[in-house]
Amino acid sequence: MEMQLRINEYWSKRSDEFADARYQDLHSQKKEEWLSVIRSWLPDKKEIRALDLGTGAGFFAFLMQELGCTVTGIDYSEAMIDNAKKVMGKLGREGIVFRQMDAQKLDFEAESFDFIFSRNVTWTLPDPEQAYREMYRVLAPGGCILNFDANYGQAFKKQDLEGITEKQAVSDTSAYENPARSLAMLKERNQIAAELGICDEKRPFWDVQVLASLGMKKITVDLAAETHFFGGKPVSEAEKAWYNPAALFMVAAQKETHSLKK
Ligand SMILES: C[S@@+](CC[C@H](N)C(=O)[O-])C[C@H]1O[C@@H](n2cnc3c(N)ncnc32)[C@H](O)[C@@H]1O
Repeated sequence: MEMQLRINEYWSKRSDEFADARYQDLHSQKKEEWLSVIRSWLPDKKEIRALDLGTGAGFFAFLMQELGCTVTGIDYSEAMIDNAKKVMGKLGREGIVFRQMDAQKLDFEAESFDFIFSRNVTWTLPDPEQAYREMYRVLAPGGCILNFDANYGQAFKKQDLEGITEKQAVSDTSAYENPARSLAMLKERNQIAAELGICDEKRPFWDVQVLASLGMKKITVDLAAETHFFGGKPVSEAEKAWYNPAALFMVAAQKETHSLKK
């Protein structure tokens, strides 16, 4: 099966569980923390057109709407988009445009958005460089791309090579009594990761280099985003080592309002 379809099948199977988890997040302290992080990166303008790239069940789309943005959420998975729409109804909200779309082939005009947010999506793409190219294209001058991700794939690839131990399977699935988190699904996830080129990259340095090659000149990186934004726990030994494959990082890139000399 073509890789993107395989990835799509994996996430679609997980979409109900995902919607439940994100719905809980919408009623947690985490939501307030994310709101303040996102607020601090919004461009300084009145009407902000925001895109949630790989929206899943719509969590960040709802947050950006709360912050006053006009929001579009896209996801490759129809099942995720259906769930995002259901959650919008459950919340008694309206006005967010949720559309099925490939992040690597955006169906938007150039410069359609002032703010592009994404979490935990770029690691799961066959061609994340193309996704960055598309984000850059649809971003208006003065706009900002805010990407939170981790090199999850590196950890999953390692697990694929070593085999999943029973202990790992239990700890990974115990939170969900859901077939979508079965051992077979963990194996599928790990095998997909093992085939994705992105998990062999040193991130977020790879991301910075791609964004710079696109013309971004103002790029900010946080190598320990989880620690800095959520709870202020002391930096662990693992987090001190920048190459910790699963440390959540942040990359923020702002597009110039006018062309700069090289
Ligand atoms: C880990 S989930 C993250 C969802 C959401 N951003 C969040 O943090 O709650 C990854 C999402 O990426 C989506 N995805 C995978 N490949 C995609 C693609 N090519 N274009 C758009 N979305 C994609 C999946 O369907 C899934 O919803």
